[in-house]
Amino acid sequence: MDFKLKPLPYAYDALEPHIGAETVETHYEKHHRGYMEKLEKLLSGQPAAERSLEQLIREQSGPIFDNAAQVWNHDFYWRSLRPGAERGGQKPRRGPLAERIVASFGSVDGLCRQLEDAADKLFGSGYAWLFWRPGAERLEVAGLPDADNPLLTADVPLLCIDVWEHAYYLDRRNRRDEYVSGVIHDLLDWEAAERRLRDAV
Ligand code: FE2
Repeated sequence: MDFKLKPLPYAYDALEPHIGAETVETHYEKHHRGYMEKLEKLLSGQPAAERSLEQLIREQSGPIFDNAAQVWNHDFYWRSLRPGAERGGQKPRRGPLAERIVASFGSVDGLCRQLEDAADKLFGSGYAWLFWRPGAERLEVAGLPDADNPLLTADVPLLCIDVWEHAYYLDRRNRRDEYVSGVIHDLLDWEAAERRLRDAV
């Protein structure tokens, strides 16, 4: 295995008030780290241990896929958010990402509504994703179940929102919509999305 758990890129309390410190600590230290530990056990002594995390996601199914994808998805989730909720989001209003958003969704607010809808309506566990679809030359939004992610369809992930209950239950109980709204309007890292788009096109 030539990959390991990436560090949490900010303090446990950095995403408050939308995501509390206890949620971030439990989510990272127990859930995210737990997926990595299970993956290490599953790969021990196996030829698949030589593959990269992305190769495992594309090539494997069953428990190896589940845990590899959850390690990758959580790394991506932490890096889809950025501290500073008090600044109120700073959504893209100009530049390449904003132009693609307008071309694909009509407006930035239109994208936010679609993302919110995908996250709120996803049945059970999973993630809402914003991704670039190279063949169609457009941005897409989708709610994907469990550990599925856009790498499986050769798309380029730009942002994700974890809507497994462990992402919000300590803070919001069953009110997923409150968590989703806070993330979309205050915590998404649009600059990271712009960098990922620039690398993809
Ligand atoms: Fe999670």
